[in-house]
Amino acid sequence: MIIAVDGPVAAGKGTLARRIADKYGFKYLDTGALYRAVGLSLLQKGQDPNAEDLAVEAARNVADISLADPELRLEHVGNAASIVAANQGVRAALLDYQREVAEHSPGAVLDGRDIGTVVCPAAEVKLFVTASAEVRALRRFDELTAKGEDVKLAQVLSDLKERDARDQGRASAPLAKAEDAHLLDTTKLDIEAALDAAYEIIEKHLPTKT
Ligand code: DC
Repeated sequence: MIIAVDGPVAAGKGTLARRIADKYGFKYLDTGALYRAVGLSLLQKGQDPNAEDLAVEAARNVADISLADPELRLEHVGNAASIVAANQGVRAALLDYQREVAEHSPGAVLDGRDIGTVVCPAAEVKLFVTASAEVRALRRFDELTAKGEDVKLAQVLSDLKERDARDQGRASAPLAKAEDAHLLDTTKLDIEAALDAAYEIIEKHLPTKT
């Protein structure tokens, strides 16, 4: 069983997807971490994330990069990820890896931007998790300040809007809600309420036990 969780940056999809995977004993894959790993690998070698061939090369070797590296979570790495994510060759190089994980038995939860539309269009459950830009910026701001990063809310909001525009506007697999995805707006929901809403949707699609 495949559960696709898509949505814009800081909508809460990572936390939701991880908790859903835990509950059902499914494999979890944060696909954003793959793009971040490609971005980080270029930055570490002093290479430009806009250098298309180098980015594709890094994507082909993504299995060699630890997806648990805390550096992946840094803001500048997220920005590099957003640049390499617009590269068609990078997306193609990461596709097989993502589909392999999706085949995991008894199930897998993948979160990202194009899981329900491109990576796993036949996923049994598709959730599109979103929230207003202001609420997402505030959540990201709290997260960054808790980590000791010195950031301004206005800057976080403008970076987030820039990232949204890049993710939605790119030609290749732009961020979009699949037609058959369930919309989950978390603007006014805390994580537990969002999870309850997600479980209610998922339970309807679970195979019935015999
Ligand atoms: O979810 P995140 O912030 O870790 O994602 C980092 C970048 O990777 C984001 O700008 C969009 C891109 N991305 C993508 O294009 N497709 C995915 N399936 C996941 C992430």
